[in-house]
Amino acid sequence: MARKTYEDLRSARWYGAADLRAFGHRSRTLQMGYSREDWNGKPVIAIVNTWSEINPCHTHFRQRAEEVKRGVWQAGGFPVELPAISLSEPFQKPTTMMYRNLLAMETEELLRSYPADGAVLMGGCDKTTPALLMGAASMNIPSIFVPAGPMLRGNWHGKTLGSGSDTWKYWAELKVGNISERDWEEIEEGIARSPGTCMTMGTAATMMSAVEALGMSLPGSSAIPAPDSNHSRMAALSGRRIVDMVWEDLKPSDIMTEGAFENSISTVMAMGGSTNAIVHLIAMAGRLGLPIDLDRFDAISRRVPWLADIRPSGRWLMEDFFYAGGLPALLGELKDLLHTDAVTVSGKTLGEDIANADVYNEEVIRRRANPMSKQGGLAVLRGNLAPNGAVIKQTAMDPKFMKHRGPAVVFADYNDMAARLDDPNLEVTPDSVIVLKHAGPQGGPGMPEWGMLPIPKKILEMGIRDMVRISDARMSGTSYGTCVLHVAPESWVGGPLAFVQDGDMIELDVDGRRLHLDVSDEDLAARKAAWTPPQRKFERGFGAIYADHITQADKGCDFDVLMGTMATPEPEIH
Ligand code: FES
Ligand code: MG
Repeated sequence: MARKTYEDLRSARWYGAADLRAFGHRSRTLQMGYSREDWNGKPVIAIVNTWSEINPCHTHFRQRAEEVKRGVWQAGGFPVELPAISLSEPFQKPTTMMYRNLLAMETEELLRSYPADGAVLMGGCDKTTPALLMGAASMNIPSIFVPAGPMLRGNWHGKTLGSGSDTWKYWAELKVGNISERDWEEIEEGIARSPGTCMTMGTAATMMSAVEALGMSLPGSSAIPAPDSNHSRMAALSGRRIVDMVWEDLKPSDIMTEGAFENSISTVMAMGGSTNAIVHLIAMAGRLGLPIDLDRFDAISRRVPWLADIRPSGRWLMEDFFYAGGLPALLGELKDLLHTDAVTVSGKTLGEDIANADVYNEEVIRRRANPMSKQGGLAVLRGNLAPNGAVIKQTAMDPKFMKHRGPAVVFADYNDMAARLDDPNLEVTPDSVIVLKHAGPQGGPGMPEWGMLPIPKKILEMGIRDMVRISDARMSGTSYGTCVLHVAPESWVGGPLAFVQDGDMIELDVDGRRLHLDVSDEDLAARKAAWTPPQRKFERGFGAIYADHITQADKGCDFDVLMGTMATPEPEIH
């Protein structure tokens, strides 16, 4: 590949021209206290930073951005930090998923409208990772992802606490009186005790791992705990590396190939990753026009074993995973199942990146001969209840429900469920199938992480902790249980889920990949004919744009106008 020259750079149009506009760009850069030596002949590196005072997972990014800049300066680039909207999983309502495409658009437009030659993408909290990658893929200038990294292990009364998972677990114990209010407060104080993302195998750890395997972040970067000094050095190294990537013209489209996506999906399976990865990786691949669909996930899930023993499905946390060798160690166990010729941001192949990796703790990262399970955790279901697919995390469910038939207990929406779930008169048995409607991309809106539908109190009091549950929602990666998710099309737009009634029999067959509503086609058609579509939720603003353009879960929930490889025109400079 021919190396770029200064004249080839996008930023040369802003800084290098002998015209009045370039005078403006130079004088305004001098206004900020920079000297000509700071930018002359150098690539401009945009540091897209999702730091925010309301995002606890990215607290360290203010400092890390300085460390990225140090690396950029060292390698002869000109760093420019561009703050972007932070999608803070704990705080943003109704759900960060509603804003993933907004950050993706912002990333694309920031990179397009400013003189960026290369991009450092700083994210990690759930949706920030796919959003940044989607925008960078569409803009297709050299880009490197700096993962926020997991927070340290939680700690309470000598027990290790994991994000999310232990919240749900102890909340249930508090409800039935097994722990005290004081215990609950102490758990609050011990469960999140450093900067960084959730340290269980939630969406954050899943997506950071998926992106490293995709080749878009430095080898070994994704599992470094956020407060570890190694994390600072990784940030600086990413800054140095992006400058070279600009000269090498190593672009997302060179790295994010179909084979690289297969590597990424295999990684999600081997990690026992979050179901959310399905929606995000489909959306990311869609930005490159690659045919990655639900069936690809199911096929890869059948051949890739689950190796990482990490909560909620396993025992350990991401900090342990890092000490056990991190992602290169896990990938090293999977070599024969990977496209090792895929190029990564390192400029080398994935195979070269992981050549010297080893597993240092075989309990945390299982060897191939001793997997957690022979298959990956995610299964794609189809049937008359989900013609375009639904997903289930089979490794996080009670195996007794793998094949199950039971009567539906239907809730029209979240408020209906909240109002009636714990009613002692609710007609529900441990065999019932709980159904929640209006929780999809349009109905939620934003496909909230409600998919781990709560178990009715009446059933909890029987000592039962799992039931079959079905919705068009997503589920937090830190959740668990027999939860059928992402039902497509969703109920809001008239998918069959909309027509389920109390008492209808539902059949789940995970091995058979089947989800069936035992109601005749004629009856379903009659129910559909009598159905009135719900009233639109938004008349103005981003909500209205969202409602006009959001696609269904099986398409990745991207906006229709952002999908595909249509050219992203360079701005005219007047
Ligand atoms: Fe940010 Fe979980 S809340 S990663
Ligand atoms: Mg989450």
